[in-house]
Amino acid sequence: MAPIETDYMSLTRFVLSEQKKHPKATGDLTQLMNSILTAIKAISSAVRKAGIHKLFGVAGGSNVSGDEVKKLDILSNDLFVNMLKSSFTTVLLVSEENETAIEVEVENQGKYVVCFDPLDGSSNIDCLVSIGSIFGIYRKVSDDPVSEKDAFQPGREMVAAGYALYGSATMVVLSTGQGVNGFMLDPSIGEFILTEKDMRIKPRGKIYSLNEGYEQYWDEPTKAYVKSKKFPENGKPYGARYIGSMVADVHRTICYGGIFMYPATTQSPKGKLRLLYECNPMAFVVEQAGGMATNGHMRILDIVPTSIHQRTPIFLGSKEDVQEIIDLYKKQ
Ligand code: AHM
Ligand code: MG
Repeated sequence: MAPIETDYMSLTRFVLSEQKKHPKATGDLTQLMNSILTAIKAISSAVRKAGIHKLFGVAGGSNVSGDEVKKLDILSNDLFVNMLKSSFTTVLLVSEENETAIEVEVENQGKYVVCFDPLDGSSNIDCLVSIGSIFGIYRKVSDDPVSEKDAFQPGREMVAAGYALYGSATMVVLSTGQGVNGFMLDPSIGEFILTEKDMRIKPRGKIYSLNEGYEQYWDEPTKAYVKSKKFPENGKPYGARYIGSMVADVHRTICYGGIFMYPATTQSPKGKLRLLYECNPMAFVVEQAGGMATNGHMRILDIVPTSIHQRTPIFLGSKEDVQEIIDLYKKQ
């Protein structure tokens, strides 16, 4: 029998050790991450037994015992909001599920601003395809009373960012600005264990990933790019993969290389995906893994937000693949 592991590198231990490298660290980020992990563990458990617990369907329905049943995405949002608010480390929360930013009660306030999508991939929830949670963490920088403006920082200012993937296993991928590490949930002990150390994205991949059904709405650089992958002048065509859950598509891109795209379309001229809690955290992780993320014209992490739910086109992944689409936009 294999010996029982007694020296796990759990995610909490990892964040603590990263924080210890900073002499002025207070431990707040570890506390904040713990609150996010509690939410993620509860979401993971709900996702795994969602069918049994009748979590699917319209919010506000009731289960057999007459209790109100929450739709999975609302439950996930409540978990994120409640855990973060009560962690004494946050001051402002921006969620995909809340129209306005949430200001934390004065007595519970800490120094961090957290932007999150509690359950991304809504079209995949009811058919058991992978979904995920995404989060980005900033420090409040202004001395003014808290307002949504505290979230209008470019993504490059993030202290930490990451995502949870509820796939064939549950994994948290995290960057605190010193590379990227992956932690698999071990359900038998309820801990996230470091399994993917220093994740690096290949400089070039063989896969492109976007919703090809919208081709007639794409701009010229996107059309030219995809055509060049399907009918290359030299070599083999790229493979196509598209799950329709950003977390799963980006995770695969980090693991196998290639490019993930959600371009502008004539129907959605700013793209579909949201800057603060979808594009920025993913761009941060991808850059930290050695990849690139752009809107075609500029680095995603340099965009200065002007509203909390703003959208942006996005192209991210292997450096050489992303550079090709940037070059096509330059030629335009
Ligand atoms: P959601 O926030 O409603 O779940 O939408 C975001 C999702 C992403 O996970 C995914 O990349 C994209 O929408 C897929 O959109 P489409 O169905 O247009 O291809
Ligand atoms: Mg979303």
